[in-house]
Amino acid sequence: MRVLVPVLTKDAIEKKVAEVALKISDDYKDRELILIGILKGAFVFMSDLMRCLAVPVKLDFICASSYGAGTTTSGSIKLTKELGIDIKGKDVLIVEDIVDTGLTLSYLIDYVKSFGPASVKICALLDKRERRKVEIKIDYSCHVVEEGFLVGYGLDYAEDYRNLPEIYHLKL
Ligand code: IMP
Ligand code: MG
Repeated sequence: MRVLVPVLTKDAIEKKVAEVALKISDDYKDRELILIGILKGAFVFMSDLMRCLAVPVKLDFICASSYGAGTTTSGSIKLTKELGIDIKGKDVLIVEDIVDTGLTLSYLIDYVKSFGPASVKICALLDKRERRKVEIKIDYSCHVVEEGFLVGYGLDYAEDYRNLPEIYHLKL
C-alpha cells in the first residue's frame, strides 16, 4: 500500500521559493539569466521560481532520463530533449527538482558547459543527501532532506503525483 506523509505544505513551498528567488535576484542583479529546467520534474518549481525573479530571464528545458523506473538512478543517463537556445557567453542557472545521487546533474552540468556559457550555477528544489555519489555544489536549494522518496509539486513516482500542490514522503 502507498502512504503519503506530508513534508512541505503549499505555503511552506511558496515561502522557500520566494526566499531562494530573492537570493538569486540579488546575486544576478543587472544581469540577464538563462534558466535551464530539467524535465519533467522541475517544470512546476521553475514556473513558480521564474515569476518571483526580479532579473530578466530567458529559459529552456532539457530532458534527461535514467534507464529504469525504480526509485534510484541507474547511472546511465540519456538526453531525450537537447538544449534549443544559444547559451554561449551567458549566465546559466540549471533548475532541478531534486538532487539524489548527483549522477544526473553531474552529467548535465558537463553537457551545459560544453556550449561555452560564461557561468553555470545550480538551483534545486530539494537536496537529498543520503545517497549522494558525486559531489555537487548546489548553489541554491529550497529544502534539505536526509532520506526517503518524495513526490508532489512536479516530483513523481512512476509518473504519478506530479500535480499535487504539496510535497510528500512516499512510503511503499
Ligand atoms: P540523481 O541522478 O540520483 O541525483 O537523481 C536525480 C533524479 O532522480 C531527479 O531529477 C528525479 O527525477 C529523480 N529522483 C531522485 N530522488 C527522487 C525522489 O525522492 N522523488 C522523485 N524523484 C526523485
Ligand atoms: Mg528530475
